[in-house]
Parts: sequence; C-alpha cells; structure tokens
Amino acid sequence: MKFDTPAGQNPIDQLKVVGKPTDRIDGKYKTTGTAPYAYERHDVVPNQAYGYVLGAGISKGRVRAIHVEDAKRAPGVLAVVTTLETPRLERGMMNTAYLFGGDVIQHYHQAIAVVVAETFEQARAAAFLVEVDYAAEAGKFDLAAEAKGAPPVPSDSGEGSGGDGEERVGDFEGAFAQAPVTLDETYSTADESHAMMEPHATVAAWDGDKLTLWTSNQMIAWGHGSVAKILGIPKENVRIDSPYVGGGFGGKLFVRADAVLAALGAKAAGRPVKVALTRPLIANNTTHRPATIQRVRIGATRDGTITAIAHESTSGNLPDGDPETAVSQTKLLYAGANRLTAMKLAHLDLPEGNAMRAPGEAPGLMVLEVAMDEMAEKLGLDPVAFRIRNDTQVDPQAPERPFSRRDLVGCLRLGADRFGWAKRNPRPGQVRDGQWLVGTGMAAAFRNNMVLKSGARVRLDGAGTVTVETDMTDIGTGSYTIIAQTAAEMMGLPLDKIVVRLGDSDFPVSSGSGGQFGANSSTAGVYAACVKLREAVAQRLGINSADAVFADGEVRAGNRAVPLGEAAAQGALSAEDTIEFGDLSKKQQQSTFGAHFVEVGVDADTAEIRVRRMLAVCAAGRILNPKSARSQVIGGMTMGTGAALMEELAVDTKRGFFANHDLAGYEVPVHADIPHQEVIFLDEVDPMSSPMKAKGVGELGICGVGAAVANAVYNATGIRVRDYPLTLDKFLERMPDAA
Ligand code: MOS
Repeated sequence: MKFDTPAGQNPIDQLKVVGKPTDRIDGKYKTTGTAPYAYERHDVVPNQAYGYVLGAGISKGRVRAIHVEDAKRAPGVLAVVTTLETPRLERGMMNTAYLFGGDVIQHYHQAIAVVVAETFEQARAAAFLVEVDYAAEAGKFDLAAEAKGAPPVPSDSGEGSGGDGEERVGDFEGAFAQAPVTLDETYSTADESHAMMEPHATVAAWDGDKLTLWTSNQMIAWGHGSVAKILGIPKENVRIDSPYVGGGFGGKLFVRADAVLAALGAKAAGRPVKVALTRPLIANNTTHRPATIQRVRIGATRDGTITAIAHESTSGNLPDGDPETAVSQTKLLYAGANRLTAMKLAHLDLPEGNAMRAPGEAPGLMVLEVAMDEMAEKLGLDPVAFRIRNDTQVDPQAPERPFSRRDLVGCLRLGADRFGWAKRNPRPGQVRDGQWLVGTGMAAAFRNNMVLKSGARVRLDGAGTVTVETDMTDIGTGSYTIIAQTAAEMMGLPLDKIVVRLGDSDFPVSSGSGGQFGANSSTAGVYAACVKLREAVAQRLGINSADAVFADGEVRAGNRAVPLGEAAAQGALSAEDTIEFGDLSKKQQQSTFGAHFVEVGVDADTAEIRVRRMLAVCAAGRILNPKSARSQVIGGMTMGTGAALMEELAVDTKRGFFANHDLAGYEVPVHADIPHQEVIFLDEVDPMSSPMKAKGVGELGICGVGAAVANAVYNATGIRVRDYPLTLDKFLERMPDAA
C-alpha cells in the first residue's frame, strides 16, 4: 500500500481496540521469566557451548601476536578464534568500528579473540590464559582538547535527524550584534551508555553453510543483511530470530561482536555457541552516546521575540563516524529570522559513538532548553511565556512547509496548569522545605517523527484466529500489543483471537524498532496487510468488499452475518503487504512535541539533588495504547533524569577508555530516585503520518527532561551549572549559606 495522500476515515477510527490502555500481552511472560531472551534460548538447538570474548588491552595500535597454546590446553576448551587468523571483516549497517579481524586496534576492548568451551566458566578461565603482544600507538581521547578546529561535518543518520555540517538562514551574526538582549553560553554533555538490562547476546548454530542466530537486535532486516555481509555469505543462508529484546535504546540497532563471534566460534567448534558481552565490553566494545560541547547564542528584542539563534555542537568519533546531531531541534523548535546551526566533528580514538535514544535531540535539548531558561531570565519573562511567544507553525528554515500537527503551546499551557506553575517563585533560592532548597523548572520537548516502510503477513484460520507475522521487534516497548490491537480493530476480532509473531527474518521486512518510528510504521504495515485480508475474506464469501463490515467476530453485508472463521473453513486465507510512504513528510514537517515540568529538592548542606515530581504533556498524534505509551514516556523521563544528574562514562584521557564500565560505576536512576511521574497525552490525530494517524513517543519522552531538571535545580539554588551531569561536587562550593 502506498501512503501518499493524507489518511481519511478508516476502520482504525472506530477505536474499539486501538487507543485502549490494554495490558501488554507479553507482560505475563516477562514478569514470570518465561519470555526467553537470546542467552536463554536453551531449547532452540542442542549441545550449546559457551564463547567468551577477549577485548583489546590497548586503545590504538596493532596486535603483534596472540599466544593461545595454554588456552587451548585448558579444561573444556573446544576452540579459540583470534583476530590475527581472520581477515578484517566487512562492516554491517551503521557500523563505524570494525568488529573483528586483522591486526589493527581502533579502540579499547575491540574484540581480539573468542574462546569456546563446554561451560562459561571454562571459557572465561581459558581466555585469561591468552597472551597478547601489542604495538601500542598514541591516540586522541580528550574531546575538549580536540574540539578546537574541528570541522563542520554533515550527518545522514538513517535513524534520526541529519543535516548539513552548517546551515544558515538570514544573517545570524548581523542580527545577533543588533539584538538588545543576548545570550552566549557554552555547555557540555557527557558520554553515556545505553545500559540496557539485557546484554548483547547471541546463540549461533550452523547447519552446513546455513547459519541461524538467536540474538537480541532492534532491526532484523538490517541485521540479516549485515551478518551476511560481515561473514561474506549469501543472505539466503542467514536467519535471525529475536522475539524478545531486553532493551536496546539504539545500542542494538546494529550487529555487534556477540553475533559475529558466536558465528565464528560455532564454525570453529563445530557446535552451536552462545556469547554474551560482559558489562565492561558493553561500555567499551559497543557504542555509546557521544559527549558534546555546545555553544548557543540567542538574540531577542526586549519583548522577548527571538531575532537571532545559533547552536553549534562539537562531538568526537572514530574516523568514518558521524557527529552527534545535537542541533537538529534548533532548526525547528522556535521562530527567528536569522539562524545558524553547525555540527563539528573531532577525531577521537575512543570506542565508537553512535545512536542512543533520541540521538541529537536528547543532548541538544539538554542545552537549548537551558539556554532558553537563561534567556527568559535575562528578559524578565516567564519561561513558559517566552517559549509560547516564539512558537512557529512553519519550518523556520523553509516557511512554505507547515508542521502537519504542532501543539507545543497546548502542551506548555496544560502542563503549566496541571503542575501548578503559577505558584512558582521565579526568584531562585527562595523556597525551603526543611533541609531542602526547593525549585521547579520546565522545558519544551521535541523529536522528529520518521516513517519507514513496513511489511506484515496476516493469516486467518478456520477457528477465526488471525496470526500476524512481521520482523518487527518488541524492545520492551509494547509492539506485540499494539500490533495485536491493530489487527483486532481491522478484522473486528477480540484481542484473544490475534496471535502476533515478531522478530524473525523469515517474516516480512518491517520498519524495525528505532528512532521512535516503530510503533506508527509497523502498525501501518499491519493495517495494509489487513486491508488485503479483508478483501480476500469478502471475495471468499462472495461479498462486495466495500459493503463488508467486520465487527464482533463476524463479517456483515446487508442482512447477512457470517462468523469470520467461516471464510477460512476451506483453508486458511493469507495476505501480505507493505506500507510505503510517499513524500508527505517532505511537504509538511512531521514532529512530536511535549512539555516537561520538574520539581527538585537540593540539600542545603550537601547539595544532594533529589527529584520530587515530574510531569510530561505530549502531543504525538494518535496514542495507540495509552498504557504502553505512558510507560515509554516514563522510561524516557527516567533516562533523561539520569543524563541530567548521574550518567557519565568517565573517560581515561591518558589510556583512552571508559573507566566506569559496569553498573556499579555507571549510575542510572532507580525507582527511589523519582517518587512521582505523571504523563498526559493531548487528544490528537495526525492524518499525514500514516493510516494509523499516530506518531512516535518513545524518544519524545527523554527529550527536554534533562534541561527541565537543570532549570529546576537552578530555581532551587540560584547556581547555574552548564556541565552535565549535575553532580553535587559542581555545586558544593557555590551553595548559598545554609544557616
Ligand atoms: Mo534508537 S537511538 O533509533 O533505538
């Protein structure tokens, strides 16, 4: 199905099943431990052995020799595969660093060997017997030192917001120089780890020259093609299966070393092999969100109208890597005639920087929305009112392009009302609650809405059950549930008559899960397949498909009402289709909007920062399932709080690696860190986005949160820290007198 004109009325609009806060149908499997994750696929193939990955102990240079004799003689060892005996393997989709093969070391903990043994403990013990000779070289590891002179670099990031290295509208410098009120500040955000619960893990098995990988991956079709390319085998010989993914956040958009080394280890051992990356390898062997240094300049008239806005971001990456697209939102969020955005890229020899939840906007808004808060204060304006004054209904870089739907103002107003913003004391450092200095802050949320073509197959059987198959993944987001809701709505069935099967490369190619495009795109693919199935049902029953009504488990036309299953009494009916998106998203700008409000307490003596309550209001098209969407936004708010207050991969700038490479050293928020979170969705549909009229929320939820927290901390203390994360050491000496 081609989607190239705005959606009209369609069966989804009935909202009998779609739009309801249905419990996740995979929830009971996950909460009872019966949803098998990759490393637990014990039943898929017998005789599984264990692989242990050895990471490089240098950050740049060459491997001279790897001595494996002792490891090979160790108890239980079946095989050792080293990078020196393997030619440098091709890279897969979105891979910057090479995953294995050859003698060149690009970054610390690059995989250099896998040891395969009967048990995990034997594999690990033998891996420590491997001796490696390196020829180390000096590398560049310090972003602040390398940032000067870093050139503007474009990004065509396939999952997020791209753009040219530098983009200009009007005369920024001239307008900024003329503006009566200006701000020019520089901020920094930290390297962050995805820190998903389930590590990257794969079970690999060869059957002759056919390879099956039971793995944990967000994008099955990308992974399928990538594995074939990396290993140099035909795609037809590869199958990937990933029905449950224990979090990805962008870290599992692509194939990583676990999949490659499980495949190579299984070949060498002549047995199925399972490999999980250990926590230290997740930090330094896989990808991370790159740190940024961002400069924002804003010029405005005295009444608070922005006349000039510039946002420049510098990040680092390995050669061939992308810049962090932290200026994306600044192109679209606020009006202003004179504009400049630039993304600069420094060469660093740290592990590869890549996509993490709302790449670009997440760190970009942590900065832009603090700058807006600072600017509002300079103007003597309320931060909510300042944002409303500078709202735009068209793309500020291309005013002929309207937004398909944009109710940022509605989010700001409703949020301010529900949060009790009017009661706020705008003067910082004024409110006390016992030992706590109390403050409130807010920020706008923005994330682009992408649409990706997505396919599905649906089959109706004689019992009236519809089975949906698509290679879409559920990364903890609720895909199973919203796909079932979509098929139920389309076929007029209750949810328990729908079976959803996901994550298998034998199924039709979907959008996959990333860039908050998954929910809208993949359900639109299921919609398209169901439109075909409805036609097939009508034809089988001899009904004009335009007259057929699918409701309550029946097909009705005129006076006739037939149980749906009867259409398949003579044999199952199957239909398959792919939704393909035309240029609607070019004609109109599709984005999602929100507003975050946060209250914090800061200990007057220790400067310990505690979040007290949070509220998000989101405008993101039709909400397919308010319960799973709310969970997504709450997850985003929690992750954004981590970025604001604690998350930082600490760089050892001498040796070139992330030192806090486990969940003891890399802190993420837990339930006790945020006692109260509330989410409100505006009632909205966006007919430009798809027949579902939905958009994404999974990344919107993190966007702006960090700035809202930072602005609340400023309101509490009067101390502005522009260097994330906002740890107490950055406040302590500047704290107001506690007495
Ligand atoms: Mo996302 S960073 O595309 O999983």
